[in-house]
Amino acid sequence: MALVLKLFFFSLLLPLSYCADPIAHYCAQNYTSNQTQININQVISDLTTSASVGGFAVTSSGNGNDTIYGLAQCRGDVSASDCSACLSSAAKQFPVACPKQADARLWYDYCFMRYDTNNFVGQSDTGFVTILYNVQNATDPDAFDKAVRKLVKKANSDAVSAGSGSLGREKTNFTEYINIYALAQCTRDLQPLDCAQCLWSTLQYFPIYCSHRRGCRVLYTSCMVRYEIYPFYFPLDGNAKISGVDKYTKAILHPH
Ligand SMILES: *[C@@H]1O[C@H](CO)[C@@H](O)[C@H](O)[C@H]1NC(C)=O
Ligand SMILES: *[C@@H]1O[C@H](CO)[C@@H](O)[C@H](O)[C@H]1NC(C)=O
Ligand SMILES: *[C@@H]1O[C@H](CO)[C@@H](O)[C@H](O)[C@H]1NC(C)=O
Ligand SMILES: *[C@@H]1O[C@H](CO)[C@@H](O)[C@H](O)[C@H]1NC(C)=O
Ligand SMILES: *[C@@H]1O[C@H](CO)[C@@H](O)[C@H](O)[C@H]1NC(C)=O
Repeated sequence: MALVLKLFFFSLLLPLSYCADPIAHYCAQNYTSNQTQININQVISDLTTSASVGGFAVTSSGNGNDTIYGLAQCRGDVSASDCSACLSSAAKQFPVACPKQADARLWYDYCFMRYDTNNFVGQSDTGFVTILYNVQNATDPDAFDKAVRKLVKKANSDAVSAGSGSLGREKTNFTEYINIYALAQCTRDLQPLDCAQCLWSTLQYFPIYCSHRRGCRVLYTSCMVRYEIYPFYFPLDGNAKISGVDKYTKAILHPH
């Protein structure tokens, strides 16, 4: 299944901060054409502006084989100002993360942006996956995994249901003192059935990477799921204590 697997450690300040470095990136397809560069710049600029309003945008620029297609989406629960700030970070980061690459994707906590020479809009893409799992394990891990699975499935169903804006958020009390929070989201260009398939497909990685883990994220290009034992989605859960620094291990896979 995995052609490439890279593992390394990094820390994130959570849940309120986000930084200019993306949590994941994908770059492919070198180009040399000046027109391609012009079209990429135009797409990034359009996306930054239009996705700041409403949290989602698709666009294209150019003609024939120079055409560049783009999509940007903020996490459905973040504020307009966080959304806009995140999109601006992504716009600045593309030339750094993916120089001279015509297929580029950047994942942040609060937003996602991509462009490509192929018109990918409306097509589910699960060909690249980034997994971030907490280095710490839960207490009573088997019961915890069961609770996580149930909760993530609920969040997935929420994200697919009409009127959800492709976003699902769920919370459960695992013990009197420990809550589990889960979020699921698809890009808004997907039909509900494609969204559902994408989200269900994330579950295959849970036994391999997320088992016993206190928190875990599976990020595809077209959808993502995440769970934690601290509140990380908005509105923040007022009763729970906010986490300090959690450490995650990152795995990058190219399933096909
Ligand atoms: C793309 O460009 C980079 C940087 O110039 C180079 O290292 C890489 O080998 C190129 N990839 C292909 C497929 O040509
Ligand atoms: C592309 O841009 C570079 C740098 O601005 C310039 O030197 C070159 O002549 C341009 N090439 C074409 C085909 O326009
Ligand atoms: C598009 O086609 C033209 C003419 O065949 C070629 O010169 C150019 O490099 C192509 N651009 C890309 C991005 O493939
Ligand atoms: C956490 O659980 C996983 C899966 O059972 C195990 O491989 C790993 O060693 C555990 N890590 C710690 C820090 O206990
Ligand atoms: C979870 O919350 C429900 C409703 O408030 C309560 O009945 C239940 O006992 C709680 N479970 C645990 C394990 O604390």
